[in-house]
Amino acid sequence: MPRIGIIVGSTASASINLKVAKAMATYLPEGFEAEFLDFSALPFFNYELESEWPAEATAWKNAIEGVDGIIIVTPEYSRSIPGALKNALDWSARPWGQASFNGKPTAVMGASISAAGTAMAQQHLRNILAHFNAPTMGQPETFFQYNADAFGADGSVQNEGSAAVLRGFAEAAAAFIGSHVTEHASA
Ligand SMILES: Cc1cc2nc3c(=O)[nH]c(=O)nc-3n(C[C@H](O)[C@H](O)[C@H](O)COP(=O)(O)O)c2cc1C
Repeated sequence: MPRIGIIVGSTASASINLKVAKAMATYLPEGFEAEFLDFSALPFFNYELESEWPAEATAWKNAIEGVDGIIIVTPEYSRSIPGALKNALDWSARPWGQASFNGKPTAVMGASISAAGTAMAQQHLRNILAHFNAPTMGQPETFFQYNADAFGADGSVQNEGSAAVLRGFAEAAAAFIGSHVTEHASA
């Protein structure tokens, strides 16, 4: 069964991206297993920490390398990705030559309270993933405009338009990741 790691770019417990990611995960087709990958325990990266490599960084790299593909759901902070997510991506790229995202099929989306939100963050994220040699899903680009009224108390999506966007993204991401798994299995 293909396993998908979901990374949320926000560390806020009330994160709208966490809420949207959880809702999106309910639309992954049967036969896909979703696991949320948490980077909040990582220290701020600096290369001097590499000589006494932290256990948290090993756990983080193992988590990424242990799944078949990744979905990143990120907010946009100051027209880019949040610093905490960038820190986690920097750790994943070390030691030099051992980027955990190398060859890992990845799909990105994001939620914002504003209509144009996360477009720039997602573009910055795509640059980083290209540098890591992670195959990245092109479409559907998903800039989800968050509206609290669209979600029920249990986190389920109450609005058909929002549900259709999340379902469309989840199905496309699963197909994208699944096709890479099949390719590897037959190689
Ligand atoms: C420091 C900061 C910068 C922000 N910059 C942007 C931005 O550039 N674009 C945007 O759409 N929203 C921006 N926002 C608003 C976020 O969309 C909003 O805070 C959202 O709840 C963040 O997602 P999260 O709850 O998952 O962390 C910013 C918020 C913060 C705290």
